[in-house]
Amino acid sequence: MKIFLDTADIEEIRTAARWGVLDGVTTNPTLYAKVGGRYEDILTEICGITSGPVSAEVVAEDVEGMLREGRAFAKLAPNIVVKVPMSEEGLEAIFRFAEEGIKTNCTLIFTANQGLLAAKAGASLLSPFVGRLDDINQDGMEVIRELVTIIELHGIESEVLAASIRHPRHMTDAAMAGAHVATLPFKVLQQMVRHPLTDKGIVTFREDWTKARKAADEKNAAQASGDGRGAQQADEKVEAITNKPGV
Ligand code: G3P
Repeated sequence: MKIFLDTADIEEIRTAARWGVLDGVTTNPTLYAKVGGRYEDILTEICGITSGPVSAEVVAEDVEGMLREGRAFAKLAPNIVVKVPMSEEGLEAIFRFAEEGIKTNCTLIFTANQGLLAAKAGASLLSPFVGRLDDINQDGMEVIRELVTIIELHGIESEVLAASIRHPRHMTDAAMAGAHVATLPFKVLQQMVRHPLTDKGIVTFREDWTKARKAADEKNAAQASGDGRGAQQADEKVEAITNKPGV
């Protein structure tokens, strides 16, 4: 499964790229509002960090307006994908973009039927919003499951992109549901890295390493000076490290 970052924050994108886990980026007007500046400049900078798809969202509600905005985005970099909302006008724009060879990501999908229509119109990415459905007491992940099944059953080329991911469990469930992509906030990416037992294990290994080195030095010194008791005490210290519960 590909991992996209759902952000317009350049530093977050750079960090994920350094970790080797970044396959692309999705932005939207709300995420753009958080960072400010010129949207076009931000998109160009993001495209310089990742060669994966970078979604740029149109805000026009009429077909010609969407086409105008999308064509301008597409000129910024070859990896721009124009994000178009699900609507009658959106479908028409997606179809026209496809004819022009411009890739699209259909956003604000809340049912498998909407996803199916976006795929038919030619969207390369279909973005069901999982978290926002959960927010209204519906099973957001069910839409991912249904849409993945439809895509695979009918050999459709579009990819299902699980969006509105709010926590690490969403990521695991999206991966198990067969989502081709999931886009997530940087905070969720950080949460995926962490586990309290990992943190505890790192500290314990470091402490054991220090103690073992000290005991080895003490044993060498004791042996060099013929101090048999000292050498034995050093061995006992090593034993205490290796006989801890859980080792
Ligand atoms: O990119 C759009 C989507 O991921 C929004 O997420 O958390 O605002 O529902 P959220």
